[in-house]
Amino acid sequence: MDFKDILEKRRAVNHFDPDRDVDETLLRAVVESAVKAPSSYNLQPWKLKALRDPGQKAELRKLAFDQPKVTEAPVVLMVLADRDGWKDGNATLESVFKDFVAAGKMQPDQKDWFLGVTQGLYGRDDEAAQAFANKNAGLFAMSFMYTASSHGLETHPMDGFDHDGVKQAFGIPDNYWVPMLIAVGYLKPGVTLHPKPWRQSYEDMMLD
Ligand SMILES: Cc1cc2nc3c(=O)[nH]c(=O)nc-3n(C[C@H](O)[C@H](O)[C@H](O)COP(=O)(O)O)c2cc1C
Repeated sequence: MDFKDILEKRRAVNHFDPDRDVDETLLRAVVESAVKAPSSYNLQPWKLKALRDPGQKAELRKLAFDQPKVTEAPVVLMVLADRDGWKDGNATLESVFKDFVAAGKMQPDQKDWFLGVTQGLYGRDDEAAQAFANKNAGLFAMSFMYTASSHGLETHPMDGFDHDGVKQAFGIPDNYWVPMLIAVGYLKPGVTLHPKPWRQSYEDMMLD
């Protein structure tokens, strides 16, 4: 499918077919493609939690303003943005640094320099860490949704949920913010989508 078609086709779908599963192989394929998304210094400060269990989804639905798609969709992903993803000892950062060294982009003795840069850019205060985690996790989420579309799946991003309640109910460690949930599945048969809603024009978006 042409990328332009994917841009048109992707919609925030409200009604999922509860009888059509998204198997683990397909979910893995989508996630493994979506991870090609760009991120600050390639630090990829995101993790995912996939809910499939009906009981867990029912619990999540209660914390998500009773949105029916949370229980209808076979999979609901929690996107977790890692506010510690710039810190010394963070496992992903360690892998990224190793990769930089292996690629000859940094020398092994530049670790402290690299940590100084990430601290200065992303860890200088809580706001910087929050922005770092959420902008990058948001880019992953977008990549995930377009990739899912390219595989014939439908998605729905949601930030309509009790953030702290969700973290508490699902034991999400404190370093993570949850920028969104993403329902993943197939359109419920017989449902017609509303036309794509209004978007800003080029002129609307370009400030003088
Ligand atoms: C971060 C984010 C959070 C959203 N949260 C909700 C939500 O909680 N409930 C909902 O019905 N739609 C939610 N939406 C869907 C938007 O309303 C929808 O994407 C927008 O109206 C554009 O429609 P389209 O995605 O079909 O093009 C969310 C979208 C984004 C990107």
